[in-house]
Amino acid sequence: MFRPIPEATLFRRIPYRLIASVLLILALVVSVILLFSLEQEKLLLQGFTQDKTVPTELFPALWQSRSDLIVVTLLVFLVSAIGIAAVIIFLHYDSTRSTLEEVKGLARNILQSIPTGVLTLNRSGVITAVNPTAEAVLKRPSAELLGHSYETVFSEGETIRNVLDGALRFQRHVTQQDLLYERQDRTPHTIRVSTAELTGDDAEPAGVILQAQDVTDWLALEQRVRIADKLAALHTLSAGVAHELRNPLSAMDLNLHLLEEELRECASLPEQGARYLHVLNAECHRLSIILDNFMKFARPGSVGLHEVNVSALIEHIKALMQFEAEERKIRLEQTVGEPLPSVLGDETAISQVLVNLIVNAFHAMPNGGLCRVAAEARHTHGIRWLVVSVTDTGIGIKKEELARVFEPFYTTKSSGTGLGLAIAYRIMEDHGGTIQVSSMPGIGTTAVLTFPVAVEEAQPVTVTS
Ligand SMILES: Nc1ncnc2c1ncn2[C@@H]1O[C@H](COP(=O)(O)OP(=O)(O)OP(=O)(O)O)[C@@H](O)[C@H]1O
Ligand SMILES: [Mg+2]
Repeated sequence: MFRPIPEATLFRRIPYRLIASVLLILALVVSVILLFSLEQEKLLLQGFTQDKTVPTELFPALWQSRSDLIVVTLLVFLVSAIGIAAVIIFLHYDSTRSTLEEVKGLARNILQSIPTGVLTLNRSGVITAVNPTAEAVLKRPSAELLGHSYETVFSEGETIRNVLDGALRFQRHVTQQDLLYERQDRTPHTIRVSTAELTGDDAEPAGVILQAQDVTDWLALEQRVRIADKLAALHTLSAGVAHELRNPLSAMDLNLHLLEEELRECASLPEQGARYLHVLNAECHRLSIILDNFMKFARPGSVGLHEVNVSALIEHIKALMQFEAEERKIRLEQTVGEPLPSVLGDETAISQVLVNLIVNAFHAMPNGGLCRVAAEARHTHGIRWLVVSVTDTGIGIKKEELARVFEPFYTTKSSGTGLGLAIAYRIMEDHGGTIQVSSMPGIGTTAVLTFPVAVEEAQPVTVTS
């Protein structure tokens, strides 16, 4: 909440209404005196007009009364002038005050309503103001912030504290800087902050103002758009190029094998030559895998609408990969909640996604470990979903790398094409589903697939007679 701005105290202390009332009473008293003097003069004039002999002792009284009248008139004039001036000043002050109140109210409303968090510190680092958005962004109530030093509110090492430190102590201000901010609920968020010097009424530095916005969702959306753009570009490229490259590459591959066989038969293949041929073969094989992936991408509207029994599919893939898992000293487990609803989709495409995920898990555990494939049905927002997850106990993915795993050609493996997850992303989109990857470096990674359940199983009907 914003604390009220202190008003000009001198103006506030002057009792305008009291002064105006005293002046009015004064004017009333003077008017009464004036009336008495006029009455006295009227008596004298009556004496003249009725031809009565006016007692001569009344003349001094008359003159006295006239000079009184002049004094009194001047006094009334003075009092009235002062009264009018006081009323004008009061009205002016009153209108200035209400304008100030309006401006203050407007400023308060703007700060209460803007979707940007605003927080101010005075020169000693005490938080003097905070608006509701700042409370929401920082996930802290105003009572916990207002009147406290930022050093007690934000703990040592917190990114936001470092920014405030720099701004307050060294006038090192930041503009639109993204900070990782861990809220009290321990969910990491990205907040975008700017700081500026806060100047007081005397144009002297009075502290620091901080603006903060939660950009976590916005960054995620930006990331999704970036991936979608890259996928679209890849789609166009793969559709055009892959097909044209397939034939020459097959011819190269075949001829390489023939050459190798020929040389071996003639026993004229030196050791160095064999190594060159091995490299050529390996690169041809790699190119062929990339082209395969390109072709998978190029398939327009690749999803065929069939009912897919996902639990049977998982069972099948597990059996298929069991041998490789044992070779790599990996325990491959499955946890499937029963009964699972079917999804509408393409069985080959869904198996491709699952195989890609399991292969990634295998690669992440060079010294063995556990890979678990789980599936269950869930209900959210009135829609039934089938959720399949692949979890490993591998090396994990660093936070800055996690944001890039769906980008086509992003790979950290010397033999990877970086298309496995990009293809999985595309296939899940084609199924109206989603894919998400979360990871803890050194602990492991989980990839979660969510399919909408298009076909609800028939509910058993009980007929009573
Ligand atoms: N389970 C995982 N554990 C650790 N890192 C992973 C995992 N899954 C994916 N990654 C990271 O994401 C990157 C991209 O994965 P993706 O499957 O798209 O490509 P790739 O596995 O490198 O190559 P390929 O095209 O052969 O699959 C990987 O190189 C790896 O760094
Ligand atoms: Mg992969």
